[in-house]
Amino acid sequence: MLREDLNLCGTKHGCELGECGACAVLLDAQPVLSCLVLGVDCAGAAVTTVEGLAGDGRLHPLQDTFADLGAAQCGYCTPGFLVTAKALLDEHPQPTRDQIREALSGNLCRCTGYQQIFEAVEAAVERSASQASASLSRLRSPGAHASFGEARRSADGAKAAGERRS
Ligand code: FES
Repeated sequence: MLREDLNLCGTKHGCELGECGACAVLLDAQPVLSCLVLGVDCAGAAVTTVEGLAGDGRLHPLQDTFADLGAAQCGYCTPGFLVTAKALLDEHPQPTRDQIREALSGNLCRCTGYQQIFEAVEAAVERSASQASASLSRLRSPGAHASFGEARRSADGAKAAGERRS
């Protein structure tokens, strides 16, 4: 259904036995093997495929680090790893290597030897933290305060003008 009816081809067609992880998607934020789930059983649930990881025109940090660190080679397994890793980071923002290994143990990769995949997940944790820190710094910068102050003055001025008109 995902690939042929909805044209969401990121999710891969793998073993059809629930053994390879290539078809993993998130069902209400929990990783599931889509080959074992009937579409009719997903009524009312949120299904997130790899296409849903990017947002606001930007890749998810996991997508960036998988590409940067060679964690995707032939790429067939990559969508399943990405959605499963996202579920892990949503639940454990600072996972240990053992937690990463355990969470991804149902996803098979024939190319990478797994080391690059584990390193990419760890790098995504660091990248997410530095992006959050940079966003916080921008909000705390004097320029940001000036902008907020100007916006506030502008809003106060508009309110005063509106009150004067009425
Ligand atoms: Fe080829 Fe994982 S990158 S199977």
